[in-house]
Amino acid sequence: MRRKIILVLMACMAASGARAGTSVWDGVYSDEQVSRGQTLFQQSCARCHGANLAGTFETPPLVGRFIPYWAGTTLDVLFDYVSTAMPLDRPGSLGPGANADILAFILKANDFPAGTKELSAASEDQKSISFDAVRPQPAANHKKSAKAR
Ligand code: HEC
Repeated sequence: MRRKIILVLMACMAASGARAGTSVWDGVYSDEQVSRGQTLFQQSCARCHGANLAGTFETPPLVGRFIPYWAGTTLDVLFDYVSTAMPLDRPGSLGPGANADILAFILKANDFPAGTKELSAASEDQKSISFDAVRPQPAANHKKSAKAR
């Protein structure tokens, strides 16, 4: 009996595509990481995306409408894109640690809350962080959405 319950639980977690409850709203990066990320962003990204991340005529913003466009999946998707496609003139030239710091800075700029732990620089770990545009509702709704998928 107990084994059956555990199996059902595991199936639910697999269906929701994420470790239960980890979202960009749960504080997935630290403020210290943000200050490193800010420096790196100014060095490698601001030239095109703007110091305030607002973008230019030719370059998309990394705040505002940027979020709904990238959200709805897990954080590794954005991390992998930045790691392989950016900076546009030297794609993939920054290491995973630098890219995780920069991603922390971008999350902060979009008002996702900081936490105590650093954002992992392993894409694999970020697969368990769901990138929700809006803060997920607690418990009851969580269950429902896992079932619906
Ligand atoms: C030489 C200019 C340039 C630099 C430097 C640059 N980018 Fe970009 N970035 C662009 C352009 C242009 C696009 C749009 C590319 C496209 O649509 O294919 C883009 C797209 C992006 C996107 C996707 C935006 C969206 O709305 O889809 C992200 C995220 C991003 N850049 C992050 C970064 C980060 C982080 C850095 C620094 C590590 C960086 N970029 C450096 C020019 C640049």
